[in-house]
Amino acid sequence: MGCQTGRIRSCMSAYPLHPEQGTVICVGTSGMLAGCTRKLLDEGWRIHAIARSQHKLDALGAGSSGQLTTASCDYHDLDAFERALDRAGTHVSAILYWIHSSGQGAIDMIHRRYASIDRCRVVASSYEPTQDSDVSERIVKLGFVILGARSRWLTHEEISEGVHRAFISGDAKAVVGVVEPLELRPQS
Ligand SMILES: NC(=O)c1ccc[n+]([C@@H]2O[C@H](COP(=O)([O-])OP(=O)(O)OC[C@H]3O[C@@H](n4cnc5c(N)ncnc54)[C@H](OP(=O)(O)O)[C@@H]3O)[C@@H](O)[C@H]2O)c1
Repeated sequence: MGCQTGRIRSCMSAYPLHPEQGTVICVGTSGMLAGCTRKLLDEGWRIHAIARSQHKLDALGAGSSGQLTTASCDYHDLDAFERALDRAGTHVSAILYWIHSSGQGAIDMIHRRYASIDRCRVVASSYEPTQDSDVSERIVKLGFVILGARSRWLTHEEISEGVHRAFISGDAKAVVGVVEPLELRPQS
């Protein structure tokens, strides 16, 4: 079981994924992950996208031949978040989510509701699992790019491309860019 090298490093393929399997719920993917969501739509995935801003959600489907449904809500409002998840229907094959740490209640709800399906979580480079972390969720960590003796954060395009690749790989862990050496982590 080897690891790939290059921009995406990933190990332990766990979930074979295919667009015909069912709806993918995408939470918080209308910003820097809009490109990832659009690519999944272009590939024929059925997407149910959840975020606050309806116009950003609607923009995800512009020009796409894929099937997009949306639900606008604040994931800190757990009743509203649950209703937004309900609107995905019952045939859900995976959930991809970028949820800030303030939204831990929403993350816990995802684990409770979708314990038996593929859960793929996007996390920042500073993320470290705790004893309470659900080890069955897949993790895609966003890192940075090293340029000689300097470094920079990933662009939205790089983030979207890397998260898309990590999601469809089914791999349990992936890093977009690099997270080491720590001393080269961009300061701003
Ligand atoms: N390692 C890295 O390179 C790294 C890591 C993390 C972040 N960043 C950078 O930091 C920037 C800011 O990050 P960001 O998190 O603001 O990214 P973002 O992807 O632009 O926005 C967050 C996403 O979550 C949704 N969202 C936010 N709060 C929500 C809530 N309470 N309820 C429901 N949906 C919510 C947003 O849509 P709505 O606003 O419509 O709700 C959007 O879809 C990014 O542009 C990125 O460049 C870099």
